[in-house]
Amino acid sequence: ETANIGVVGLAVMGSNLARNLASREGNTVAVYNRTHARTEELVAAHPEAGFVAAGTIDDFVASLARPRTAIIMVKAGAGTDAVIDQLAERFEPGDIIVDGGNANFQDTIAREKRIAPTGVHFVGVGISGGEEGALNGPSIMPGGSAESYETLGPILASIAAVAKGEPCVTHVGTDGAGHFIKMIHNGIEYADMQLIGEAYDLLRTVGGLEPHAIADVFAEWNKGSLESYLIEITAEILRQVDSATGKPFVDIVLDQAGSKGTGVWTVQNALDLGVPVGGIAEAVFARAVSAKPAQRAAVRRSAASRPQPQKADAGFADDVAKALYASKVVAYAQGFDAVLAGAEKYGWDIHKDRIAKIWRGGCIIRARFLDRIAEAYTDNPDITTLLEAPYFAQAVTQGEDAWRRIVATAALSGVPVPGFSSALSYYDSLAAERLPAALVQGQRDFFGAHTYRRTDREGTFHTLWSGDRTEVDVTHSTH
Ligand code: 6PG
Repeated sequence: ETANIGVVGLAVMGSNLARNLASREGNTVAVYNRTHARTEELVAAHPEAGFVAAGTIDDFVASLARPRTAIIMVKAGAGTDAVIDQLAERFEPGDIIVDGGNANFQDTIAREKRIAPTGVHFVGVGISGGEEGALNGPSIMPGGSAESYETLGPILASIAAVAKGEPCVTHVGTDGAGHFIKMIHNGIEYADMQLIGEAYDLLRTVGGLEPHAIADVFAEWNKGSLESYLIEITAEILRQVDSATGKPFVDIVLDQAGSKGTGVWTVQNALDLGVPVGGIAEAVFARAVSAKPAQRAAVRRSAASRPQPQKADAGFADDVAKALYASKVVAYAQGFDAVLAGAEKYGWDIHKDRIAKIWRGGCIIRARFLDRIAEAYTDNPDITTLLEAPYFAQAVTQGEDAWRRIVATAALSGVPVPGFSSALSYYDSLAAERLPAALVQGQRDFFGAHTYRRTDREGTFHTLWSGDRTEVDVTHSTH
């Protein structure tokens, strides 16, 4: 009973997290993997970590000091349940089982319910930052009970990334809140990646720049308000040359994007919650479209000639930067709306400023931008949308003309910009004095007597469309 923390599942993420834990003062880390050879390999490769290697799950449990705390780092899915059960059978009340994988938060809620009667804490923890983050400091989004966080919090704080002097970890809410927030993080990640992809496509197709020149543009952007991990790695990817062919790396990669599901979950849940997350949805759909080679080939064959790209003037790259920034504001605004809606539906006491703060470092969407979001929500937690926060309202207003020019140029040039254009439409929808939703209500009332409300007085009304077309007040009718 020498280890204060254990890790189960020693693939790259698990190994790196275990090494990160072991490197921090005061931690002794027990490690266990179903295939023991993997454990032996890790322990041999990292003698400095002082791992306590367990050959069996019983050894592993026996090596943990009380309250026993074990982080499961196995691929999300059925495998997770098997490991949870093995631990739950052996753990005692007060012990803590942590699921650090990308689990669906609904599964996490169900698992917590299942484990709770035994007195063992089950805690779903979102961990972002990829392999590098796991090793050197991820952003960590723990859910679960407040009680479990007393033990877990300091351990997680010891390994988290640090932003502005604060560890990127906070108890985001109970039961599945951690995995929910991680899911939204990934949804935003999808949107951000798509927007950056569209910026690249515009700079290349309309701007006429080669990948290495676009890398320079991105590197320049990374010195300003667009500074972010994703922009930084994009510049590096665009600079990469394929050694086999001498071509830009980006040109030899098959242009069909994969996904592991978290972006889809974000959209599915947002649909259920009634939150418009068009930026995230378009990013998910853009990947799906890319992965339809037969349809793409068919339409390429049947389409008349492709439009000639518009001429790019000297300010084109600046316009793209502004469009990108404004579209990002929308994507993040939508993501935070989903955070709030989830918190309301599932009863989590979520603080948006704290979420923004723990995303400032360690995670894939870390960015200078998140400082501004954290400030916006700290200044006024009750803003109805990020778009009304003074800083962002001004940024969007200043970029608005460029944003419109870019979306128009893209349309005329045949460059698909689902992210940029849906973000702009979302903005215009919110900003419009009147929306055609009034007409939709009329249609609904016409064919289905679904009723409508009026702009000029209270009540519920129906027009006798198939009769004499007079209006009836149905406010108090029961059907
Ligand atoms: C992170 C990443 C990580 C993973 C995604 C990739 O925050 O560290 O989001 O969780 O790389 O699951 O997702 P897709 O395979 O769906 O793009």
